[in-house]
Amino acid sequence: MDIFANDKQYIAGTYARTPVAFTRGEGALLFDGNGKPYIDLGAGIAVNTFGHNDDGWVSAVTDQLRRIAHTSNLYFSSPQVLLAKTLCERTGMRKVFFSNSGAEANECMIKTARKYAADRFGENTRSGIITLKGSFHGRTIATLAATGQDAMHHDFGPFPDGFFYTEPNDIADLEATLQAHGGKCCAIMFEPVQGEGGVRQLAREYTAKLAALAEQYDLLLLADEVQTGNGRTGTLFAFEQYGLSPDIFSTAKGLAGGLPFGATLFGAKTADVLQPGSHGSTFGGNPVCAAGALHVLSRLDDDFLADVRKKSEHTRRRLTAMQGVLDVTGLGLMIGIETKKPAKEVIAEALAHGVVVLSAKNRVRLLPPLNIPMDLLDQALDVLETTFS
Ligand SMILES: Cc1ncc(COP(=O)(O)O)c(C=O)c1O
Repeated sequence: MDIFANDKQYIAGTYARTPVAFTRGEGALLFDGNGKPYIDLGAGIAVNTFGHNDDGWVSAVTDQLRRIAHTSNLYFSSPQVLLAKTLCERTGMRKVFFSNSGAEANECMIKTARKYAADRFGENTRSGIITLKGSFHGRTIATLAATGQDAMHHDFGPFPDGFFYTEPNDIADLEATLQAHGGKCCAIMFEPVQGEGGVRQLAREYTAKLAALAEQYDLLLLADEVQTGNGRTGTLFAFEQYGLSPDIFSTAKGLAGGLPFGATLFGAKTADVLQPGSHGSTFGGNPVCAAGALHVLSRLDDDFLADVRKKSEHTRRRLTAMQGVLDVTGLGLMIGIETKKPAKEVIAEALAHGVVVLSAKNRVRLLPPLNIPMDLLDQALDVLETTFS
């Protein structure tokens, strides 16, 4: 079968795919149909936390698959409860809602913030949410509206009202946005590091001010940790590094290590906002995905996270010293590289030389499996060095 022609004929054309089909993976290596190996610095866009075909993860998932694959949320489920308990104990949050993706986790975060405000102040009085320009929160209609990128606000309107956008890392703009709209808002929503927006991290002074202003205006803090979560930035969740205590946060991507999963976690103020009938999901909390996530969390301990930080520092040090590199951004193993050459060219050349890297706006983006061995990481960086200049 000609996979490229059949893809074009039968699959909706939403993706500008790179012309390669990976057929198997082993750790941080991917192989195409001809058996050509590639070092994977993309991890399925921050999904494959321990790379491919990881023994422990495959066992955890397949053991659960053999026991029971799905029961629905009409019944109790022990993998789901164990996972919720683990997530709460590791983050200080109180309750969890499970879904299947980042967009859904954010949709739940938005709905909960609005219901919190509706319960306290009356419906539609403080339903607004402030989000950051350059953010990306998902592809559903509400999460697209929350996304602070004008280019994404075409073709699918009308979008839900009540999203107000402010410039990231600009305290004056935040103050002005709050003065104009704060009184009709219930929350501020942000990614600690904007992923799709170009791997741009928020400054700590900015997030400290953001948290103080949220308190002043009686707004909930909503952290989108879909991409930054689950060890990616060198702590279990990025908000820990910022000293923030979100009232709600969302996560997905690497949580289940390669299976579709999302979670929305609620703090003390919001734990009991959702009630029977408020929200739901047929597949949310699926036991096979939950077993994968429990396994992922069981390995993301202090030593593992310290190792992520060590690899991050090493990678940054090497990248910063390379010719053709203008800037290195991000946190942990979520790294953005501004290059002299267009990112597109770098990515294509790296692929031809057996290294998979991604883009984010005009930057090359690295999101390797968190357990990538140091020698493979160095080998991949050697290849990247040759593509930059
Ligand atoms: C920060 C952030 N939020 C939300 C999403 C949407 O997640 P999903 O594609 O799983 O719906 C993404 C995906 O890239 C993301 O990076």
